[in-house]
Amino acid sequence: MTTDSTDPRPHDARAAFDAFKARGLKLNMQRGQPSDADFDLSNGLITALGEQDYQMDGLDLRNYPGGVAGLPSARALVADYLDLKADNVIVWNNSSLELQGLILTFALLHGLPGHAAWAGQKPKMIVTVPGYDRHFLLLETLGFELVTVPMQGDGPDIDAVERLAAGDSRVKGIVFVPTYSNPTGESISPAKAARLAGLQAAAPDFTIFADDAYRAHHLHESGDEPVNFVVLCRDAGYPNRAFVYGSTSKITFASAGLGFMGSSEENIQWVSRYLNAQSIGPNKLEQARHVRFLSEYPGGLTGLMQAHARLIAPKFEAVDEVLSRELGSAGEYATWTHPRGGYFISLDTAEPVAHRVVELAEQAGVLLTPAGATYPAGQDTGRNIRLSPTRPTAQEVRLAMEVVAACVRLATEEYRQSRSGQDA
Ligand SMILES: Cc1ncc(COP(=O)(O)O)c(C=O)c1O
Repeated sequence: MTTDSTDPRPHDARAAFDAFKARGLKLNMQRGQPSDADFDLSNGLITALGEQDYQMDGLDLRNYPGGVAGLPSARALVADYLDLKADNVIVWNNSSLELQGLILTFALLHGLPGHAAWAGQKPKMIVTVPGYDRHFLLLETLGFELVTVPMQGDGPDIDAVERLAAGDSRVKGIVFVPTYSNPTGESISPAKAARLAGLQAAAPDFTIFADDAYRAHHLHESGDEPVNFVVLCRDAGYPNRAFVYGSTSKITFASAGLGFMGSSEENIQWVSRYLNAQSIGPNKLEQARHVRFLSEYPGGLTGLMQAHARLIAPKFEAVDEVLSRELGSAGEYATWTHPRGGYFISLDTAEPVAHRVVELAEQAGVLLTPAGATYPAGQDTGRNIRLSPTRPTAQEVRLAMEVVAACVRLATEEYRQSRSGQDA
């Protein structure tokens, strides 16, 4: 696309940017964190147990006994959340990422049930792009070689996943977010989920690591239906193929929630054996608090998620409204996703100016997730920006997006002018 040198927009974009810069704003849309209003919904968690409330399920919550799989009532709660039986879940401590790291480490060191350890096999892992920077960091830290496939609006590029998995026994699995993905907000379609569950892989221990962090995080009454990968894989003849993860980090407290996983009984026993070598058990008191608080919340966990949606949906609407108004919907400057849930919106600039946009936004007082964070090192397209509207107020989101739109326009005009200068 070329820009007419008499086009007034470069000046407009610069003027709009300068005006924002002069305001000395301080807005942060960097990380996907709940807002204080979201946290306040769960303050009852802090006092959910009284001073003498240290018994549940016949266990003394203060003492060791109870096992590594979690407090029975917490397992029942999580089983309901993941649509599994209690025997198919482990409720751990506050972080699902920690559980993901532990299970990958066990697979590297010991091998999945009936299979050899991955550590000596130079394992590769498929990840979706744009994707979650902490998945990349975790996998790279553990020594996996990352192989990327694009997210396509209805989940991962399944043709690419099938090709990669069929052609290389070093490809040990896929790590991705099946519902309201980070950062695109997309959910996998039932057809793609079925193909993934039944996929013919060269590696006999090809595994689906479904990080279902946002499976209940609908913005509206009718949301995307989460996939039950444990059941789907079992029915496809691969009973041990899926590990599903989740947590209450974006339900109750980000730093004091429950992290958990679901899988086949055999995988649960396998994980439990290794967890037991490094811990006598998780924090049962925190688990009991969640059981008590969520069972007493009006409408239970669903009621709490509806209360979150009332706080978060207007912020997503603000992003879409401001971007549409300022950048148009024809894709001249950028396109962005329209999630029905989750925590993120993914914006792609029409030109490779994402880094410049983030830099300009910071100069104007708006912190964004660093451009490139949504791709593993060296694979950045220079076009993707993750927008995280949950933490600021709706008013702040609106203002931040006006700044971002001005920065997208300015960076695009700068880029096009420099290109047309080169072409001349
Ligand atoms: C996809 C995804 N998984 C996991 C996490 C972190 O989960 P936890 O707090 O349970 O470790 C996040 C947080 O943003 C996330 O987006």
